[in-house]
Amino acid sequence: MGTRTPVHISAVRRRARSGRGPRRRTAPLAAAAAVALLAGSLAACGQEAKGGSRYKAEKGKGGTIGLAMPTKSSERWIADGKNMARQFKAAGYKADLQYGDDKVENQVAQIENMIAKGHRLLVVAAIDGSALTDVLRRAKEADVPVISYDRLLLGTENVDYYASFDNERVGELQGGYIVDKLKLDEKKDEKFNVELFAGSPDDNNTKFFWDGAMKVLRPYIEKGRIVVRSKQTKLNQTTTLRWDGGTAQKRMDDLLSKNYGSEEVDAVLSPYDGISIGILSALKSAGYGTGDKPYPIVTGQDAELASVKSILRGQQTQTVYKDTRKLARQAVQMGDAVLTGKKPEVNDTKTYDNGKKVVPAYLLKPVSIDKSNTQRLVDDGYYTAGQLK
Ligand code: GAL
Repeated sequence: MGTRTPVHISAVRRRARSGRGPRRRTAPLAAAAAVALLAGSLAACGQEAKGGSRYKAEKGKGGTIGLAMPTKSSERWIADGKNMARQFKAAGYKADLQYGDDKVENQVAQIENMIAKGHRLLVVAAIDGSALTDVLRRAKEADVPVISYDRLLLGTENVDYYASFDNERVGELQGGYIVDKLKLDEKKDEKFNVELFAGSPDDNNTKFFWDGAMKVLRPYIEKGRIVVRSKQTKLNQTTTLRWDGGTAQKRMDDLLSKNYGSEEVDAVLSPYDGISIGILSALKSAGYGTGDKPYPIVTGQDAELASVKSILRGQQTQTVYKDTRKLARQAVQMGDAVLTGKKPEVNDTKTYDNGKKVVPAYLLKPVSIDKSNTQRLVDDGYYTAGQLK
């Protein structure tokens, strides 16, 4: 980085279902009444609903799609939900969009409700990937197909398809950015201080992001070119429950006060913009962000508006842009194909083993963004030029 003072070894910086069974889907106007009837009949005949035989999937458009999203605390999930709801509607369905407020029990109840209401398909971005096994068994019994959205559903056979990004590539982009910007391959006699953060331990993506980043960073750590002063270099030492920025801020406060008395940190691997914001607050409190103590390199993910603005202000350094509109489109195509008896498009049938099955996936490409290419977000129509001012 232009403003960064290099650190020499000698002076390490101190620093399916349409009307199923007897219930046939009729004209759209009758749909609400049919849903209400079905809800009633399911309540009255719970066992039959579980047995599933009365509710055989039928192909065709129409009916309601249940969209179970994890939280509104991050703008990306708000956009994901809205985009899918809009696109499912355009494809001829209704959408029931629910947010779990990062509480597993809320999400379970929401999905149970969706099944009871006779929704034809579930699209789920799990709060805890392993916590939905029981409710997904019920979905299967009621013949409701399930698409895992961005976060893989774990430990269940009852997931049909997975739509996400190339998650290991996300980590490689973050780790690779740190290597490039510290110029580790040019300044071969220098060492740099780096601290590492990982995502939520209950999210399958966390391991992929971590593995991708560490594939790039680990060789430099082993050679002593990257120094992790806290010595916290294992995934279980670096995770951040529920991707919470406040939790990350506390950990960063702690890392700085215990390990960086007179030293400075040169880069922080952060897997997600919300975590980066917490890390930057801790850095600011410790006096970073001034002329003689610039912010270290801080990575991120999701290209959230607050973080893109932070990048433009010279605080956060990088993020990974994952176009949630494309992800939504992919999930909608998959869902529509499942419901109309077509084969959904997939491009990966090997990587995503959830412990019970390898889930066929469609993976989109992530893009690294820093100050030099935020225009890409405007060109793609992801943000307007005005939003980035
Ligand atoms: C992950 C997702 C990331 C980020 C994170 C926190 O599952 O892949 O893009 O959004 O959750 O919300």
